[in-house]
Amino acid sequence: MNVLNLDDFSTEEINHILDLAEEFKNGKKVDYQGKKIVSNLFFEPSTRTHYSFDMAALKLGCKTQNFDAGNSSLKKGESLYDTVKTFEMFGTNAVVIRHVENEYYKQLVEKINIPILNAGDGTGNHPSQSLLDLLTIRQEFGKFEGLKVVIVGDIAHSRVAHTNFKIMQRLGMTVYTSGPLEYKEEGYNYVDFDEIIDQVDVVMLLRVQHERHTEAMKETVEEYHARYGLNSERVAKMKEHAIIMHPAPFNRNVEIADDVVECEKSRIFKQVQNGVFIRMALLHMVLGENV
Ligand code: CP
Repeated sequence: MNVLNLDDFSTEEINHILDLAEEFKNGKKVDYQGKKIVSNLFFEPSTRTHYSFDMAALKLGCKTQNFDAGNSSLKKGESLYDTVKTFEMFGTNAVVIRHVENEYYKQLVEKINIPILNAGDGTGNHPSQSLLDLLTIRQEFGKFEGLKVVIVGDIAHSRVAHTNFKIMQRLGMTVYTSGPLEYKEEGYNYVDFDEIIDQVDVVMLLRVQHERHTEAMKETVEEYHARYGLNSERVAKMKEHAIIMHPAPFNRNVEIADDVVECEKSRIFKQVQNGVFIRMALLHMVLGENV
């Protein structure tokens, strides 16, 4: 079983993963007693996804290997497939992969015989991030149906925006997007941030993904912060019960003001914590729920 794209999962299966993650949050114990090994193969930088998958595996009693791409035979021209096949032959039980190429996993699935968990493919998908976002929203509101969310920032280059836009609509949420027109995605329900902010239940901010741009951003950092950044004046316009989310890493005083990061409405670090429970659920699912 693989976890590549949330489109591959039914709504019932998504809810099952969220339920399992909630059980882990509430103390559910599973111990693979070191008999399973999880290999984290990150071909792009990561802090949260990489080390929360690692933490999740350790909490399940698995052993882990953490691939160092910068000192690997990638530098000698080895391909993605040959790298992953090598780990399969070592005897690892699952691979967690982040790679710059959209749908990199399509070249692997027919030929790799262990579970693959997609930890982010280019601008395409970030399934475990969306699941932890959903868990955080469900914990807050107890439902998805009827909720409104605005995702603000570099929509076109964000795998988080792409994954969330689809799955949140499937679960009954109304999803708006906003931010610089140069990063707008056609068909993504674009709105003016200041016109929607007082109507939504969730404000989700995104980092500008400079590493995926071919041209420099048109606005200065100060202009970006003034036009699209969440500052305390905009927070004051949010509904009383509304929450702030960000997949992180965040750039303080660009898309979010320094004093808003940990304000009362912010669930940003709760998202990080939920990431471990979601990844425990995903690993437990692919390694076999009957230990
Ligand atoms: N949210 C997220 O994917 O963060 P990392 O890039 O640090 O893994």
